[in-house]
Amino acid sequence: MTGSGGLEPNLPKIDVPAQFCVNPDGEKKRNPVLNTPEALIRIVDLHKSYYDGETELPVLQGIDFQVNMSELLAVVGASGVGKSTLLHIIGTLDRPTAGRVLYDEQDIFTWQDTELARFRNKEIGFVFQFHHLLPEFTALENVAMAALIATPNNKAVYEEAAALLDYVGLSERLSHYPSQLSGGERQRVAIARALINKPKVVLADEPTGNLDRRSSEAVLELLWDLNAKSGQTFVIVTHNRELAQQVDRIVELVDGKVA
Ligand SMILES: Nc1ncnc2c1ncn2[C@@H]1O[C@H](COP(=O)(O)OP(=O)(O)O)[C@@H](O)[C@H]1O
Ligand SMILES: [Mg+2]
Repeated sequence: MTGSGGLEPNLPKIDVPAQFCVNPDGEKKRNPVLNTPEALIRIVDLHKSYYDGETELPVLQGIDFQVNMSELLAVVGASGVGKSTLLHIIGTLDRPTAGRVLYDEQDIFTWQDTELARFRNKEIGFVFQFHHLLPEFTALENVAMAALIATPNNKAVYEEAAALLDYVGLSERLSHYPSQLSGGERQRVAIARALINKPKVVLADEPTGNLDRRSSEAVLELLWDLNAKSGQTFVIVTHNRELAQQVDRIVELVDGKVA
């Protein structure tokens, strides 16, 4: 499935557009002497069960860990263990059965849905395994869309969307539709889309799970680069060993708990 003839342009070695940097100096926010990272997200005794009538399917059974500011954290574990469930809860797409998720010490699930949605749109970017691009819109429109909802300044939004597509190596694909892009290119559009609202946190659920090796490498390189330069925090669910070896920290789920 390579709509553009299978060509994968090399990623450009340019800087992350400054407007997308959380830490403009590009430094990971960490004390080099004390090596004491600052917690951005704390997950406290998190439980999640699904229900089929009366029958409870417990999935997350007391998860505790923290995600540090500006780190790249991988969540690994067997298929069906609850990785996507956990990521959806961290991303406020779903609520836990019990337990808390604190962002900057704010207990977010005490908030109403509208407040939660506002928080999500502003602070969190998602990259899913299947890109979920809208087929009837161009790459540029797909990236711009989330920001157009929030701001009436269309021109600035399109300029930012174009800058991001340039950053992910797709400056010559702005008016391509998803069907005209290769799998790796679509995933890079999805990454650009995740960044348009300048989220503090980027959550990625098996972002290379559906890609060939070469496209996976391009996507991974992009994620490292972003994490190193933008200061954004990344939580990535992955089966990709190469990825899991290069992250700051790994959280492994086994039987509903952190191993
Ligand atoms: N919406 C849902 N309703 C019922 N069961 C679900 C739902 N989503 C996931 N599950 C179940 O929860 C378990 C964990 O799923 P998931 O979080 O997708 O695992 P992973 O991402 O680690 O493969 C699986 O057994 C799955 O069948
Ligand atoms: Mg999953």
